[in-house]
Amino acid sequence: MRLQQYISNTAADFESADLCFAHGTGNALDESVYLVYGSLGIDYGLSLELADRDLDEEEVRLLDERVSRRIRNREPVAYILGEAWFCGLPFHCDPRALIPRSPIAELIMNGFAGLLQGAPSRIMDLCTGSGCIGIACAMNFPTASVDLVDIDELCLQLASANSDRHGTSDRVRVLQSDLFERVSGRYELIVTNPPYVSAAEIKSLPAEFEHEPGLGLLSEEDGLQIPLRILRQAADYLEEHGLLVMEVGYSAERLAERLRDVPLLWLEFEQGGEGVMAITREQLQHYREQLN
Ligand SMILES: C[S@@+](CC[C@H](N)C(=O)[O-])C[C@H]1O[C@@H](n2cnc3c(N)ncnc32)[C@H](O)[C@@H]1O
Repeated sequence: MRLQQYISNTAADFESADLCFAHGTGNALDESVYLVYGSLGIDYGLSLELADRDLDEEEVRLLDERVSRRIRNREPVAYILGEAWFCGLPFHCDPRALIPRSPIAELIMNGFAGLLQGAPSRIMDLCTGSGCIGIACAMNFPTASVDLVDIDELCLQLASANSDRHGTSDRVRVLQSDLFERVSGRYELIVTNPPYVSAAEIKSLPAEFEHEPGLGLLSEEDGLQIPLRILRQAADYLEEHGLLVMEVGYSAERLAERLRDVPLLWLEFEQGGEGVMAITREQLQHYREQLN
């Protein structure tokens, strides 16, 4: 069988299996390319025409087994491959942490244009999971020191491995903490993609999400508990001109409604995505009462 034919057959199988494409790709063909190229170590930059060749029996066996895991078990491709891409960088990826996919990637790649007064020297990635956001920040701000904070020790092991992979360990620290509990000092930028999915929403998520750790998704109080805790505490950990950037995804409308009088700046994305807000330390202090 030819590689291009295998990819198009697999895309058709994915389509008819009614899979959810929300963990790195947005459609059946891209998902098929992701699985096949990733499994065979083909550069994702190579076109289907240039990559086309005969597949040997062993390759077909490997691919068939992985396609079956994707369809029967609804396993996300990133977990099958053990790798996900974020900000153009590869990250180790396994069910210890959520699969990287935050639209915050676009902000990192453009240096938080229009949001920061200069390159930040101290950055915190709160609720870091695999470490993708903080490590990508470290790569894009080469003189910054970055703290990766998570409550879960297993996530932090994965985040450390990712930091080693990208050679950032001299500037990137991991810290186990319930939000800010064990944090000290102040940061110019706190970036966070915390859990924000309500218990009711979790029940209705497609089966692919069941492979991800619940701790990475669930937030009580209709998804708002953790985002609100962060908003209430962040000012104490930001420098005078510091900024908090937080993704709240599905919960954006509920948060905006709850904090009607607080000037949350909802960011726009050229590459898709929504539900990410920014707020300065000054504003967090000014509106402290409304956050309670
Ligand atoms: C939505 S995942 C985000 C992972 C990563 N930032 C990303 O974008 O892929 C949320 C992360 O928050 C962590 N977490 C949950 N509750 C926490 C808490 N109270 N304090 C710190 N981290 C927490 C989870 O372990 C999980 O890794």
